[in-house]
Amino acid sequence: MRDNKKAQYTPNMNHSSMKSLLLLMSTLCLCSSHPAISQLRFSVFLDPKHQIYLRWDYDDELAFMSFEFQAQSTGWVAFGFTNNKDIPGADFVIGGVLPDGNIYFSDWHGVNEDTILEDERQDYELLSLTQDATSTTMAFRRQFRTCDEHDLDITGDTQRLMAAFGTNDTIDFFKGKIIHKSLFLMLVVTEEKLKRPSVYHIYDLKVNDFPIPEDDTTYACTFLPLPIVKTKHHIYKFSPMITPRNITLVHHIIAYACGNGSVLPSGVSDCYGGDPDFSLCSQIIAGWAVGGGSYMFPDETGISIGTPIDPQWIRLEIHYSNFDFLPGLIDNSGLRMFYTSELRPYDMGVLHTGVLTFPIHFIPPQADSFKSYGFCNTSHFHEINGSPVPDMHVFGYLLHTHLAGRGVRGIQYRNGKQLRILCEDNKYDFNLQETRDLMKPVVLKPGDEFLVECRYQTTDRKEIIFGGPSTLNEMCLIFLFYYPRNNISNCLGLPDIQYVANQLGQEANDQAEGMMAINAVQWNNETIKKAENACKEGPQIVTIKTIDEVVVNETGFIRDIDIPEPAPCKLSPRDATTTRQPEGHTKYKAIPDVVSKAVGTS
Ligand SMILES: *[C@@H]1O[C@H](CO)[C@@H](O)[C@H](O)[C@H]1NC(C)=O
Ligand SMILES: *[C@@H]1O[C@H](CO)[C@@H](O)[C@H](O)[C@H]1NC(C)=O
Ligand SMILES: *[C@@H]1O[C@H](CO)[C@@H](O)[C@H](O)[C@H]1NC(C)=O
Ligand SMILES: *[C@@H]1O[C@H](CO)[C@@H](O)[C@H](O)[C@H]1NC(C)=O
Ligand SMILES: *[C@@H]1O[C@H](CO)[C@@H](O)[C@H](O)[C@H]1NC(C)=O
Ligand SMILES: *[C@@H]1O[C@H](CO)[C@@H](O)[C@H](O)[C@H]1NC(C)=O
Ligand SMILES: *[C@@H]1O[C@H](CO)[C@@H](O)[C@H](O)[C@H]1NC(C)=O
Repeated sequence: MRDNKKAQYTPNMNHSSMKSLLLLMSTLCLCSSHPAISQLRFSVFLDPKHQIYLRWDYDDELAFMSFEFQAQSTGWVAFGFTNNKDIPGADFVIGGVLPDGNIYFSDWHGVNEDTILEDERQDYELLSLTQDATSTTMAFRRQFRTCDEHDLDITGDTQRLMAAFGTNDTIDFFKGKIIHKSLFLMLVVTEEKLKRPSVYHIYDLKVNDFPIPEDDTTYACTFLPLPIVKTKHHIYKFSPMITPRNITLVHHIIAYACGNGSVLPSGVSDCYGGDPDFSLCSQIIAGWAVGGGSYMFPDETGISIGTPIDPQWIRLEIHYSNFDFLPGLIDNSGLRMFYTSELRPYDMGVLHTGVLTFPIHFIPPQADSFKSYGFCNTSHFHEINGSPVPDMHVFGYLLHTHLAGRGVRGIQYRNGKQLRILCEDNKYDFNLQETRDLMKPVVLKPGDEFLVECRYQTTDRKEIIFGGPSTLNEMCLIFLFYYPRNNISNCLGLPDIQYVANQLGQEANDQAEGMMAINAVQWNNETIKKAENACKEGPQIVTIKTIDEVVVNETGFIRDIDIPEPAPCKLSPRDATTTRQPEGHTKYKAIPDVVSKAVGTS
């Protein structure tokens, strides 16, 4: 009976399991230990037309997340999670308010491209469901990990969110408008909690009347001077300035600081096109991605400007997606920078870790999964820095790969032992590169080691991929944001390519020959695995660079990585018949019989 339920059904207005909206509203319980719906700290519009608004918050200890989802529709509305935008495997709720005031709400999953099914186990707990003349709002919560095979876990990875709605209460799911959005839900701080200086200045890093090319993907770069200040100031905040439109055209914006030695080009051009100068300056200081908001540095720190060792120029990179090849679009987007002379205690530094992009980083084609490793050993930071290096208080990070990247992880070791996975995203989305805060700042002591692991998928590629600046080349980087700053800017690792080539049965007597030999390898699942193992087991060359471009090379090796198992499922079986409801509620699930009937007759 429950099999093969199709997506279309009409909720039965007189069904006995439904309770009236009035009853629901009068008995609503926002139980103490969960954030009240009115206090949800985070919010975002899921679509550029601002028709769908999501607010959320979570309780890390109880492992619960609460949502309030609002859509401009008086029909059915749906919200949930997908794997890579696919309906098969998707996990979502559908709810609505019927014209007579009765409500429906339940937990569903996607079976295949044209079938969705109501879950046997209902794991989403409704808190309220209301409708006004134009929109429907539903508040609900669930555990991060429900342990239902039809639900997806909520994690610190980039979540692929899905939203849909229809114009009436006939749930014709596949005829509704389905919206997808990548979002990082485990946000940490809200700006209200941070200190604001009493006097500040604003300065806009943006393009002026830039004609957006009629092209699906454009990376536009321009070099902009930082403000000239006579005394030291701190930049403490960046906020996006996006030319308003009814579709998303600006996907991400990155600000890179330039060393003062470079001669920089003028104008706006393709970042990774014909003129290599447009990819100069690689130190990311701010990243914004669609869906993100402004970013404010912690009270302790800011980016110093106005002293001789400070950056004077910025490379601004704006990623446009003009999928519909719309002509005549003029853009003035960018980042607004806030700075102040009210100095914070520490200058912020950025440590650039991961795999050295040139000349050896390679990724085989046709790999379902290939991992690259970049090792950083901070043991000699003191000598290279020229003076003792104070402990680095890491408060945030930005992960960076190009289109083939699927996951990035940074692991900290001390005294030869893994201390922690400092940051990770197992569902990395190139279009969601943003500065993220750590739950708590972490101390990286000189002597600690930091390993970056990047996972790629190249099943859509025919040729070996090399490290490089173009989006079809790859990178494997983590930018660690920390204070107080020291003179070290880069600490990047790369595999000993001669060793890797030899392991693959190729002859090579030095690094250059190793490089050539890699090009000659016939790639298949076996050689892909061999190459990955060789990159992990072989020696690493660690290249450490200072802000004055002094380079020191060392050798190192990759230690074991201990990935903790996810917490076991404390399966308190919440099957369909024993679904726990908030106090004062009785059941108000959608009506399986009606669904089946609808299928039977359609
Ligand atoms: C509900 O909306 C769908 C599509 O928008 C339409 O085809 C259908 O006739 C409507 N149903 C009712 C009962 O109005
Ligand atoms: C966006 O607005 C323009 C006019 O400003 C209009 O021509 C276009 O159809 C709108 N696009 C969408 C997707 O609504
Ligand atoms: C670049 O910075 C160094 C200090 O790191 C300073 O001595 C030098 O004058 C600066 N050069 C320019 C062109 O500003
Ligand atoms: C940077 O290096 C110089 C020597 O080149 C040293 O005097 C200074 O203390 C170092 N700065 C920091 C913050 O470590
Ligand atoms: C490689 O392994 C994948 C599964 O991981 C399989 O689908 C594919 O056919 C294999 N390719 C070759 C060339 O063996
Ligand atoms: C350090 O290693 C890199 C990568 O192999 C190489 O390009 C560079 O020349 C080396 N630098 C020094 C100073 O040895
Ligand atoms: C890091 O450097 C220290 C000091 O040179 C060395 O003892 C240690 O083995 C290095 N770690 C790795 C993993 O290479």
